[in-house]
Amino acid sequence: PARPRVFSGIQPTADSFHLGNYLGAVRHWVALQDSHDAFYCVVDLHAITAGHDPKVLHQRSRVAAAQLLAVGLDPERCTLFVQSQVPEHAQLAWVLGCITGFGEANRMTQFKDKSQKQGNERASVGLFTYPILQAADILLYQANAVPVGEDQRQHLELSRDLAQRFNTLFGPTFTVPAPHIVKSTAKITDLQDPTAKMSKSSSSPNGIVDLLEDPARSAKKIRSAVTDTGREIVFDEETKPGIANLLTIFSALSGRGIDDLVAAYDGKGYGDLKKDLAEVVREFVVPIQERTRSYLDDPAQLDKLLADGAEKARRVAAPTLLKAYERVGF
Ligand code: ADP
Ligand code: NA
Repeated sequence: PARPRVFSGIQPTADSFHLGNYLGAVRHWVALQDSHDAFYCVVDLHAITAGHDPKVLHQRSRVAAAQLLAVGLDPERCTLFVQSQVPEHAQLAWVLGCITGFGEANRMTQFKDKSQKQGNERASVGLFTYPILQAADILLYQANAVPVGEDQRQHLELSRDLAQRFNTLFGPTFTVPAPHIVKSTAKITDLQDPTAKMSKSSSSPNGIVDLLEDPARSAKKIRSAVTDTGREIVFDEETKPGIANLLTIFSALSGRGIDDLVAAYDGKGYGDLKKDLAEVVREFVVPIQERTRSYLDDPAQLDKLLADGAEKARRVAAPTLLKAYERVGF
């Protein structure tokens, strides 16, 4: 039987992914390559919804793709591409937008959060319709499953509603996607504010560990990570969120269980844990940085790889769009 299809995307909004992006999302993409027919997209159309610099956008898409390859995505085992190179995304989004209620779109809480941050008058219509484009991303590939974090649940719910509504209005066309919940999905918190998530849009630079930054810089950030005034290394997200976060990162990057780590640090101090974690991070990122650099050293080859990915993606996206257009009556 055919493997279930999975779709996921990530925005090229920064010069590097951070540990939250890797441990919360991208790591699972690598694992899903073999169990699923996986489509992974650098979503640059989404990246222009909140203002951007045209001089760096294309390069950021390359850097995003290079990192995805460096952490283990293999173009032989998945389809990796850049969203703007597959015009069907925007084309389907228009159709889906025409069956989305204004009130329905208006209930998306992420828009409320993001537009408030920008000042409501300045927020773009693109930011408002972002979840509709996201639905198009998923439905174009007839994805069965979408790996999502808690923050994306509402958007996936909209994708499901739109798929069902379209199918009811115009005839069976789209697979209704289900959330793929990864139990071990780690939520990584801000090193400076361990009650908030590590986020490129809201964390301070010292709260974030970037995959591509100098490991000496990461070590410094880890050393100054906010913990608590206690001394005991135990895993308790409620009372010791800072230590719990460091243990989560340590465990995920080293493959050692949390219990094993807690036992190993019995009687040792926070300083020992931080020092060793910095070393684990260094060992993890150095080869990723080397591989990322080698992809970026040959932009023509990287662009070719992404063009091939887009061609592969279009082989699925184009027939889906055609079918949807026929159903609509075009
Ligand atoms: P950011 O919040 O830094 O802007 P994005 O919203 O672009 O990150 O997230 C990209 C992917 O990384 C999403 O799938 C999201 O769920 C995941 N992700 C982002 N930050 C974290 C985090 N701190 N912990 C776990 N997963 C995260
Ligand atoms: Na986000």
